[in-house]
Amino acid sequence: MTQTENMHEVQGTPLVPMEDIVSLCKRRGFVYPNSEIYGGVAGIYDFGPLGVEMRNNIRRYWWWSMVQLHDNVLGIVENFVDRLVECKKCKQRFRVDHLPPENLEQNKCPNCGGELLEPRAFNLLMETYLGVVEGERMKTYLRGEACQNIYLDYDNVLKSSRIQVPFGICQIGKAFRNEVTPRNFLFRQREFEQWDLQFFVHPSEMDKWFEYWKEFRFNWYQGIITHKDRMRLREHGPDELAHYAKKAFDIEYRTVLGWQEWEGIHWRQDWDLSRHSEYSGHDLSYTDPTTKERYIPWIVETSGGVDRTFLNLLLDSYEVQPDPTGKDNPRTVLHLHPWLAPIKVAVLPLQKNKEELVKAAKDIHHNLRRFMVSQYDDIQNIGRRYRRQDEIGTPYCVTIDFQTLEDQTVTVRERDAMTQIRLPINELLPYLLERVTWK
Ligand code: GAP
Repeated sequence: MTQTENMHEVQGTPLVPMEDIVSLCKRRGFVYPNSEIYGGVAGIYDFGPLGVEMRNNIRRYWWWSMVQLHDNVLGIVENFVDRLVECKKCKQRFRVDHLPPENLEQNKCPNCGGELLEPRAFNLLMETYLGVVEGERMKTYLRGEACQNIYLDYDNVLKSSRIQVPFGICQIGKAFRNEVTPRNFLFRQREFEQWDLQFFVHPSEMDKWFEYWKEFRFNWYQGIITHKDRMRLREHGPDELAHYAKKAFDIEYRTVLGWQEWEGIHWRQDWDLSRHSEYSGHDLSYTDPTTKERYIPWIVETSGGVDRTFLNLLLDSYEVQPDPTGKDNPRTVLHLHPWLAPIKVAVLPLQKNKEELVKAAKDIHHNLRRFMVSQYDDIQNIGRRYRRQDEIGTPYCVTIDFQTLEDQTVTVRERDAMTQIRLPINELLPYLLERVTWK
């Protein structure tokens, strides 16, 4: 489907135009174009104050549910060093694990046929060029593409952690791609972040674990989106499959861009570990401690984009509700999952010129901010302040009024239903923690 055809749903809520999200992101400090005062760089964005909070929440939630909640999954942080070979003649550098085997064997450059030098570890702070039109390309320094170093660390993780197959390794890392047409905001960028799980299994259990992770990742995304029906699993056709893959699935989400990949679930078999064993001369096979069987583990990979998650969640949660009074004052809401919302609670004194109200509100804010991201706001009337918080997805607003001074209770307003309840101040923290902390 084309972008125009997709602009409006036939049934249900309309799909959100990308411009609305771009504009909200800039206006409210989620995402800005990179180096905008110098004209900007296509395909690269900076995250503003709210964007950073939300992005951190998304990453931490992934880490928590993948690593912390699985006894058989460990996390690593990869360094930006890769083994590269350089061509003596044309000086081009290639990643060892990306070279066709015949070139590596014959020390022959795939570009010019020249002689390849010994592989060396390069810090991937490499000089490169952004842009695809000759003459308009801009010299840039990048840390290279996302390293698939999990395979190289696999043996160290195995030996240092006493873990046994089946087990997994997770990482979140930057990837750089000189995308020919970076577009659609955060959807296709030149610098972005990926999260990966590589799960190592006995070949006879490959199907079981593939299904497990496919279901787990699908349900994980379902748990944080509002429009559940806009997500599906799409199986790759035979023409899309890598030669070693029995099957592969994309978790897809539908936006104005049509159905698009959000995360890939890949059947990598023993391809990566076998190749690294071969090229490094370091045997990466595994010996089962009980049966003593020796084999190269097979791998299930789940690989998704942090930035794409960020964008999809905004597209999924954004809603403009008509003004119930019929006036031209619509309510913009981000129905973000409270776990992922950048600000968890806003603390609002009813009036800013009443010292006692301000003091009580600040006391509450200072207590809450030790446990969650809290924002104090006393500018403009309470209705406007609610609207401002709705627009950035703050799930709870706490209002301090004159009754607070008498009976130590506050009003807690919930973002989606706009319902309000009254709570004693000493019950506020547990009430909020219960709702904004993942579990
Ligand atoms: N290790 C497998 C791998 O890299 P991929 O499908 O190329 O697979 C995985 O990338 C995920 O990374 C995608 O599902 C998408 O969410 C994200 N991604 C890929 N290219 C991107 C880009 N240019 N900008 C933003 N996210 C991107």
